[in-house]
Amino acid sequence: MSFFEKIKSVNQQFILPMLNDGDFKMYIKREDQIHPIVSGNKFRKLKYNVQEAKGLKKNCLITFGGAYSNHLLATAYVGKNENLKTLAFVRGEELKNINYNSTLQKCNDFGMKLIFISREDYRKRNEIDYINYIKNKFKDSYIIPEGGTNEFGVLGCEEILSLEDSFFDVICCPVGSGGTIAGIINSSNDSHKVLGFSALKGSEINNVITKFTDKKNWKIFDDDIFGGYAKIDNRLVSFINNFFKNTGMILDPIYNSKMLFKIIKLIENNQWGFGKKILLINTGGLQSIKEMNNKLKKKGCEIIKY
Ligand SMILES: Cc1ncc(COP(=O)(O)O)c(C=O)c1O
Repeated sequence: MSFFEKIKSVNQQFILPMLNDGDFKMYIKREDQIHPIVSGNKFRKLKYNVQEAKGLKKNCLITFGGAYSNHLLATAYVGKNENLKTLAFVRGEELKNINYNSTLQKCNDFGMKLIFISREDYRKRNEIDYINYIKNKFKDSYIIPEGGTNEFGVLGCEEILSLEDSFFDVICCPVGSGGTIAGIINSSNDSHKVLGFSALKGSEINNVITKFTDKKNWKIFDDDIFGGYAKIDNRLVSFINNFFKNTGMILDPIYNSKMLFKIIKLIENNQWGFGKKILLINTGGLQSIKEMNNKLKKKGCEIIKY
């Protein structure tokens, strides 16, 4: 049986003590529980890409990612389980010594070949000439873009929402390369408002999303991200730890915790005009916590061991 069965994750209700207004109905879709390594959107984005690679009789998956990439790890794991070789172009030559990076160590353990490239070269990752160069060099390979965002990744993400989710007014989703939210927008209904919370400052993400969807029922927030991608401070650490104490759910420090932090801020500042039945998509990414805690040692705090 293929690793990729049809999976529907559960919606779990949670109560936020800081929101006194009892009318809010908040749920989290536990995409993080799909699999300990290929969690959340990674499972969704790889499903049809792997199907396509196999259909084309390719024997290797090639992809791109940075130091904490959940996508690289998921690709490495899936490749090992689906009998496909894996190769990744990693942003930053300084990461070559993988002893300091547990994500890359695990990728290596799953048999992924890692090629470290400069930030300058990494910027070419979507350019036709660069892709053609890779295709020529690594024949019989199937290239998955960074974050797994392409038409097949989006197609898989269209399976995140299900019929029962028409109950909700608002669907909230963290955003990186844009594929997850594009799939959610495509499968949302006309009464849904889809809100995206970008982990990156000032990215051109709206342009990416419009490549994959014609719908207009969405909006992206890209402010309030604690100074940038993967940046963190004591406030965010306390927020993650308190949320865990109150609900038993742990949120990753790069995407999902920043999304909920911003949602609460908007509600508390009376800037939330989107409806009170709210569904958050928990896209997983918990493996980044270990890495983050290593960084946090210097700041004298840590994300709770769950
Ligand atoms: C845990 C997690 N959540 C959300 C995202 C953002 O998804 P996308 O890149 O499809 O916008 C990512 C990155 O890909 C991720 O690793």
